[in-house]
Amino acid sequence: MNVNGRHYRTIWTEGEAGNERLFIIDQTALPHAFQTLELSSCGDVCQAIRDMQVRGAGLIGATAAYGVWLAARTAPAGNFAAFMERSFAALRSTRPTAGNLFRALERQARAIAGKAQTEAIPAALAEAQTVAGEDAEACRRIGTFGLELIREIAARKPGKPVEILTHCNAGWLAFVDYGSALSPVYAAFDAGIPVHVWVDETRPRNQGARLTAWELGCHGVPCDIIADNAGGHLMQHGMVDLVLTGADRVTRWGDAANKIGTYLKALAAADNGVPFYVALPSTTLDPALRDGMAEIPIEERSPEEVRFVPGLSAHGPEEVLICPEAASARNWAFDVTPARLITGLITERGISPASEAGIMGLFPEFA
Ligand code: MRU
Repeated sequence: MNVNGRHYRTIWTEGEAGNERLFIIDQTALPHAFQTLELSSCGDVCQAIRDMQVRGAGLIGATAAYGVWLAARTAPAGNFAAFMERSFAALRSTRPTAGNLFRALERQARAIAGKAQTEAIPAALAEAQTVAGEDAEACRRIGTFGLELIREIAARKPGKPVEILTHCNAGWLAFVDYGSALSPVYAAFDAGIPVHVWVDETRPRNQGARLTAWELGCHGVPCDIIADNAGGHLMQHGMVDLVLTGADRVTRWGDAANKIGTYLKALAAADNGVPFYVALPSTTLDPALRDGMAEIPIEERSPEEVRFVPGLSAHGPEEVLICPEAASARNWAFDVTPARLITGLITERGISPASEAGIMGLFPEFA
């Protein structure tokens, strides 16, 4: 994706073979500052994931994969196996909901299994580059399938933009490139189809207002930020043609965990006959789980994220308290939308019903 005319991925390495360095875009600084950051150790990686300098299911997975490489490189000689075990445990405990994290760590565990440190270092780097490359390619393909959905809607309303509502940020910032829910939007925009995006602000961390609005703006896609509670009203008034969201984990029955508030959008979409699609690479599928409401672990984050809002004042970046000083708060980061409310899943292999049969039809290897 382009920022100020330069192509970026959200995570990348620089330097000669054997001396590579790892960089990310610091998403906590966006949209007011574009800053890149070097991660030098597995500890840096854990902190970047936990503090959400990197975030979004695909990017969390790719970053964790690079974390294994940095752990292998910095492990003390003579204590390699124990150090790696601790590093895997630390990476696993960063954030509980996005399935991609655990998939990436399983891949890395296989990649370095039985290897001494000197062989494990290049093997882990190669696997991390593969995880990252596959994430970008899957998202590119999601765009090509989702584009056809948008094209069909556009054909029914010539001369008018296709109105798409999205929640949180499932754009290129949430993956290595392209994004999941926004990949079809970019593909449609690039194909000359008029599109307009309603961007839910997405309290409490405002990923919609801060990140989705920023990246759509970088690409020139017309959009408006709306308050989180506005979507139902817009749907009642025929102002939304399609809801497109991402997912952090999807079960074999097709239940989808996504940013808190997604479920309410799905209810409003069902009540108003608006198609509700969830876009995801297969690395977000968790075929070991069935009932998403009962089985997907939902992260609860600090109440301070609800009580304080960060922003830019005349004096620079600031955080302000928006409630009584003594007020207590709770902060669940995700909810689960049941499969029955999802029109379809847009994946790198095509679009399927949100059901076990649909998912296994596209991904028989998970059966
Ligand atoms: O808490 P985050 O920002 O890591 O949450 C992830 C999300 O941005 C959304 O839930 C997104 O729609 C799915 S991740 C592609």
